[in-house]
Amino acid sequence: MKYLINNWKMNPDSLEEARNLLLATKKATGETETLKVIICPPSIFLEELQEEIDSDNFQLGAQNCHWGQDGAHTGEISAEMLHELGVKYVILGHSERAEIETEEEINKKVKSAFSAGVIPILAVGEEMRDKNNKWQDLIKERLDTRLKGIKEDEISKIIIAYEPIWAVGEKAKSAASLKEFLEAAEIIEDHLTDKYKKVEVVEQIPILYGGSIDEDNISQFAEETVDGLLVGRASLDIKMVDTIVHKFKKLCGEHGELEYE
Ligand code: PGA
Repeated sequence: MKYLINNWKMNPDSLEEARNLLLATKKATGETETLKVIICPPSIFLEELQEEIDSDNFQLGAQNCHWGQDGAHTGEISAEMLHELGVKYVILGHSERAEIETEEEINKKVKSAFSAGVIPILAVGEEMRDKNNKWQDLIKERLDTRLKGIKEDEISKIIIAYEPIWAVGEKAKSAASLKEFLEAAEIIEDHLTDKYKKVEVVEQIPILYGGSIDEDNISQFAEETVDGLLVGRASLDIKMVDTIVHKFKKLCGEHGELEYE
């Protein structure tokens, strides 16, 4: 199974545009057994958009949730509320949010998502790569804190997105290379194997790439060794989404047509 997580961030401005983009993405996804597409719109649209969800392979995710105990609650949304709406996934630890969140808070969010029955899409990455490979230790530390207290039956359900912070969002210079992604994915997988001591459990965890995916670099990531992508800005462009979906489906042996040529 390949994954495509579309993080719409703070877009679009209206429900009508959100519904149109969702329906176009749903059409591009089509019937598939090898690809799971998870649309993460602003939370204000989740309830309305949930009405368009009727397949396990095309689902909604939230962009954040609160753990609901200590801390400020005004303006926040809990994992229970997401669960009540039928939302099955939530992005946590995203670098744009991690700027204003502590590692411990991310951990509380991950725990609260699991206890509410919502699956975390946990983003993790480094600010920069240094020659002494300190970035590798930073990723391991972040995984340790963010996953503190998460049990084996929970970890087997998680989705991890490796998102090098230097490659995410408008300030990014470029995407990582496939080689850089695979290096990080191996570090993540090895570290989780050390931590949970169950190769067969960790092998099942999808490790996605996220950061500045666009039409020029999509092809290098549509690879057997990549479990999927977390796409931000390009997920608002239906032709780009169509291309990604098409490439992943083809990789998995499904030969459909492009919907939006
Ligand atoms: P980007 O964002 O594709 O716009 O760089 C990725 C993300 O939301 O993590």
